[in-house]
Parts: sequence; structure tokens; C-alpha cells
Amino acid sequence: MKIVGISGSPRKGENSEKLIDLALEVAEDLGFAVDRVLLSEHAITPCTGCGSCADTGECVVRDAMTDLYPLIKSADGLIVATPVYFGCMTAQLKALFDRTLPFRKQGFALSGTVGGAIAVGGSRNGGQEKTIQAIHDWMHIHGMIPVGDNSHFGGIVYAPAESDLVGLQTVRDTAKKVCDVLEMMSSR
Ligand SMILES: Cc1cc2nc3c(=O)[nH]c(=O)nc-3n(C[C@H](O)[C@H](O)[C@H](O)COP(=O)(O)O)c2cc1C
Repeated sequence: MKIVGISGSPRKGENSEKLIDLALEVAEDLGFAVDRVLLSEHAITPCTGCGSCADTGECVVRDAMTDLYPLIKSADGLIVATPVYFGCMTAQLKALFDRTLPFRKQGFALSGTVGGAIAVGGSRNGGQEKTIQAIHDWMHIHGMIPVGDNSHFGGIVYAPAESDLVGLQTVRDTAKKVCDVLEMMSSR
């Protein structure tokens, strides 16, 4: 089974990408295949609401998202990390989320995918929980199965990530929960 980590930060090698690496290390240690989508490497233009995907199930916009559709669709689990920007996710991540509308038009292609969320802020209480809720909302709208960290809502981190030891544990626990739920589902 495969877990795909998505980082919504425009910054290469910073907190969100480190947290995705940490989450995917947990998944790899548990025997999962992993892959990454780093929005520091891809420019995704916003959805224009043209409605074409309602007829075809495909997006007419040709950009980085074109190659990301099959990768995201191939995931059994998705772990999404983002910096908190003004109390919510980055515009880069929101653009990716909005561009996933075609998956709904393909018979809810992400339905049943297990999802975990991670938010990192420059303030201790800077909106991480609200941001995780917004990520979970996207997951619910796709019929995904969002999970928390087996205690609360997901990975909640105060930057710099490496000094937030409690936050790092919520990230590991979120990744483990995604993996545990996938194992439970596959054993039925
Ligand atoms: C435009 C902007 C808005 C931000 N808004 C918030 C915020 O509302 N709450 C918060 O805790 N941090 C806020 N921050 C700080 C970032 O969340 C923080 O620096 C984060 O660690 C960046 O993640 P990255 O290192 O993965 O890019 C903001 C930063 C920027 C650039």
C-alpha cells in the first residue's frame, strides 16, 4: 500500500517538508511505499470553475497538476502538511485542493482514501487546529476517511519544527494512525 505526502509550503526544505519526511519515515518503517508532492516544486494554477470536468472528468488546464492527478489517485493514504497562513492553509495548497474537483466527477475516485493532516505555524496557537479542520473538510468532500493522531486532530507544530518535540510526536502519531487504519481496512 502507498502513502503520498503533500506539502503545501512554497519554501523548499523548510518545516512542512521536514514534517512530511518525518511522517513518511514512519510509514516506510511500517512497510508502506511512499511518495511526495512538494508544492515548492510545482506551480498549480487555481481552478477557474469552467465546468469542463463535470462533462469529461478531466481538467482542461495543463500544468503541473496534469502529472499529479495519477499520483494522488494512486495513494491508499494521503498525509497533507501545510504552513498556517492567516489562520488557514497556503494558497498553493488550496489551489491543489480545488483542482481535485475532477476526482469527484470520476465517481469519487478518492473515496475511501485514508487522510491525515499536519499544520505548522509561527505562533503556538496560530490557527493550526482550524487549518487541520479545513484539510479534513476537503477530505470529507471527497469521501475520504480523515483520521487524527489517535488523541486529537492531527500533527500540530510550532516552528521551528525540530524544537517542538511534542508537536513532532503528533506528526508521528498521525502517520501511524493513517497506517493503522489502512492495515485494519485491508485485513477485513
Ligand atoms: C503570509 C503568511 C501568513 C502567516 N500566517 C500565520 C498564521 O496565521 N499563524 C501562524 O501561526 N503562523 C503564520 N505564519 C507563519 C508560518 O506559518 C510559519 O513560518 C511556518 O513555519 C512556515 O512553514 P514552512 O516553513 O513549511 O514554509 C504566516 C506566514 C506567512 C508567510
